[in-house]
Amino acid sequence: MSCGMTTGGFKGARVAAFEGRKARWMEEAIAQYGGVPVIIPVMREAAFAPDQALAAFQELSRGQIQVIIFMTETGTRLFLQQILSQHEPDEMIPVFQKTLVVSRGIKPAQALRQQGITVDEVVPEPATWNEILEVLDESRRGVELSGKTVLLLESGTPHPVLTQALSGRGASVKTLSLYQWELPENLQPLNGFIQDIIAENIPVCFFTNSTQARHLFKAAELSGKNQELRLALKKTLLVSLGPSTSAALREEGIEPDFQASHPTLESLIMETAKDLDGLLERKWREPGQVTVVKTEIPGNRKDITAQSVFLRACRGEKTPYTPVWLMRQAGRYMKEYRALRDKVSFMEMCKNPELAAEVTITALERIRADAAIIFSDILVVLEPMGLGLEFVKGDGPVIHQQIQTRKDIDALREIEPADSLRFVYDALRLTRARLRPEIPLIGFCGAPFTLASYIIEGGSSKNFAKTKTFMYTDSGAWHALMEKLSRGLILYLRGQIEAGADALQMFDSWIGCLNPADYREFVLPYSKKIIEAVKGQVPMIHFGTGTGPFLRDFASAGSEVVGFDFRVDLGAAWNEIGAHYRVQGNLDPVTLLGSREFLRQRTADILRQAGGRPGHIFNLGHGILPNTSVDQVIALIDMVREMSRA
Ligand code: CP3
Repeated sequence: MSCGMTTGGFKGARVAAFEGRKARWMEEAIAQYGGVPVIIPVMREAAFAPDQALAAFQELSRGQIQVIIFMTETGTRLFLQQILSQHEPDEMIPVFQKTLVVSRGIKPAQALRQQGITVDEVVPEPATWNEILEVLDESRRGVELSGKTVLLLESGTPHPVLTQALSGRGASVKTLSLYQWELPENLQPLNGFIQDIIAENIPVCFFTNSTQARHLFKAAELSGKNQELRLALKKTLLVSLGPSTSAALREEGIEPDFQASHPTLESLIMETAKDLDGLLERKWREPGQVTVVKTEIPGNRKDITAQSVFLRACRGEKTPYTPVWLMRQAGRYMKEYRALRDKVSFMEMCKNPELAAEVTITALERIRADAAIIFSDILVVLEPMGLGLEFVKGDGPVIHQQIQTRKDIDALREIEPADSLRFVYDALRLTRARLRPEIPLIGFCGAPFTLASYIIEGGSSKNFAKTKTFMYTDSGAWHALMEKLSRGLILYLRGQIEAGADALQMFDSWIGCLNPADYREFVLPYSKKIIEAVKGQVPMIHFGTGTGPFLRDFASAGSEVVGFDFRVDLGAAWNEIGAHYRVQGNLDPVTLLGSREFLRQRTADILRQAGGRPGHIFNLGHGILPNTSVDQVIALIDMVREMSRA
């Protein structure tokens, strides 16, 4: 490395890295910039599966694999080695001509070419799964992935998001991992390092691949130091090589403080050394949550997300086409969802961040919407209030307690989401880390009225007689309940923003059972207060059904975006609330059950009513019905893009 000392430098600080093969290089580079290198091995290769490599080669020979993606150089070399141990090169080379050969970055391509194998696509840097998808989607050979078999040749680190995205495009995905990473046999150096971090002896720590963070926490877990390590890392400057490494850190619940502008070790060291004081100062100025981004990472994820069509439309900016997502886009209409649901109850799915992230991303990738909504439910806040919630097949949600008096209301616990709803935050964090950066993630909650209606009715209702009777006869208790809900929801939404939600939606699904005067007196002040409390942080979409008769009042709650149900004309409703609002809606979900032609007409109608005004987000006028076909949904999304581009 060429290195004239720049301003800054590490000034004798201990600088840690987990580099393996490049340990020596790293050590010298850190020292050159005036740091004391602490290089700790965290992973060791354990090669395996030669039989599987040969079996995969047989499948390739038989033409059973149409696309092969080489993810790493080491994996590629091992694969070829194992084939060549049993076959002649002349026998091997033609086999790869039958399949689309994709190399992630140039290194696997070099290894392949050395053996005379033609590489069809080299995925450009930074060669994350995102670029891989782009290459496949635009491949010169025009591969249509649907119905194809894709072999993903990995090397220890699985790529669940890529696998899911490929499946979402209708491919059948096989993965073959030719070596895996394990913790080093001797854990002493790593345990010593963890102690050093805890003792605050290490101000800077470099992460340079997506396995290091996982292994570090695994070792900490084994020695019972996980919590202490996490706390101590709040004081250590955490520097990440690039997007994949950052995503891996976020999966561990750790937010990197800085990311190199190019994913190379040179940039990483140079850029950190150059502004170490600035970076450390920023880190220490705001001690506290590890999960908050404290540094503007160049080219960082948030900037990319902020430029998405969806968020631009939320800000009322012009977009190349009308962004589209669908309420309840992850649900029973999708066979992937039903397959999971056969094994796990709905509440278990909500409480399991892995599953929630999987459902969110699978749905998004399957229908290719412009935004993802986190898989959860508006009713998850009820359990923390002390209410027993159950989803009963055929009956929908059932709340076991009867809430009838002021006393019952006072006995309800405050929603304290930091602990009781942590599973939602974890799901958001995990999903955000895995979601393509250009796709915004929407967090959500139920509005206080709709939640109150479930609490008082004990479940769903037709005429909301109990809720309204309560409201009319004991307005004091009603207001106390609305206050309590609002307090909790404000904390809950703020927590969702912190966990990575890029936008929020508040569902007032049953508000249309009220008349305008009731809405203004019994509901509006609370919805307003909640919206105000998160204002300016991320855009808020305020959705209600049956709001036609009091649209202006509803809009006056103050959200940036107002969601219309399917009962209003979008154009007229937009004119009524005023051009400074952005709007979302409003195709009748039942339209999706009709013919393609009818769907096209109704979609065109809505786009015509929006009239190309910036600030329209296409959506349904209520959630997707369970008996909707996925093909219709995909057709709708394509239609919206195609027609609004024209
Ligand atoms: O939009 C999404 O894909 C994200 C997930 C999401 C769910 N519920 C998942 C869910 C969202 C945003 C909600 C919001 C929700 N939940 C609302 C407001 C939206 C609307 O439709 O008005 C309401 C009123 C609820 C309450 C609720 N949850 C009911 C009445 C039911 C049972 C009836 C039904 O629609 O299925 C649920 C269960 C529920 N919530 C399911 C899903 C995927 C189905 C659960 C199952 O698999 O059985």
